Amino acid sequence: MTEVLHTRKELAAAREALTGTVGVVMTMGALHDGHETLLRAARERADHVVVTVFVNPLQFGPNEDFDRYPRTLDADLEICRRAGVDLVFAPSVTEMYPAGQPVVRLDPGPLGADLEGLSRPGFFHGVLTVVLKLLQLTRPDLAFFGEKDYQQLTLVRRMVSDLDVPTEIVGVPTVREPDGLALSSRNRYLSAEERRAALSLSAALRAGVAAAERGDDAGAVLAAAHRAFDSPGARLDYLVLTDTDLEPGPVGGPARLLIAAWVGATRLIDNVAIHLAPRP
Ligand code: PAF
Repeated sequence: MTEVLHTRKELAAAREALTGTVGVVMTMGALHDGHETLLRAARERADHVVVTVFVNPLQFGPNEDFDRYPRTLDADLEICRRAGVDLVFAPSVTEMYPAGQPVVRLDPGPLGADLEGLSRPGFFHGVLTVVLKLLQLTRPDLAFFGEKDYQQLTLVRRMVSDLDVPTEIVGVPTVREPDGLALSSRNRYLSAEERRAALSLSAALRAGVAAAERGDDAGAVLAAAHRAFDSPGARLDYLVLTDTDLEPGPVGGPARLLIAAWVGATRLIDNVAIHLAPRP
């Protein structure tokens, strides 16, 4: 049975009653097949699964989509029930931030100001602050994050390691539509025409993977990805090839190709693993 909790007090009592390992999947709701994959991964590794559903105002800029972000709690609960989730924690904003917006926030360091952070200042301060709060409230052994938000996953791993948080962070591969589009709660903003344009992101990543498989070097992989990003309906924000920790500098061996683009009013991101020939 899935228990639905709205207050920290209810959560604390229900969490106390769980014995064995606990896995948490943090979400902003609007659950889709990508989240279901996270729930399955959690189910496989942990005795109990806790899901958090909270649209975190701290991680939205003033002109972003906080107000129109899809809120579909009833459908989300149905998915959680089907997936055998033990607890769903769905607090209000005042329950999470009873004293108003927190004055003390996590500083994500230089990586937090790069890539997503360049277009969305303060985004990772908000993400890491709420993730740490939710880790404190749910006290999980394992926490599952999608690789789709690769920079978020990297920063959460770094935070847990830097601050000695006793939770194992598990990355879960991105789920895609058959035509390659990475699943995202924001895909529901796209018109049919925009959805076609959005395929440019995964097409660019596929071209990069194919170039690396042919043995191309980093420059040629990036050039192939740029050539494949070919849609008048999509505006590129960034397309970068980095090492797997997103550290700047020359890459060789295992690497990551990351892309962000605007399709109409919707900003989409995607990324993929790349295996480059090792640098000599
Ligand atoms: O990836 C998300 O949905 C959010 O950034 C998270 C991790 C739930 C924090 O609000």
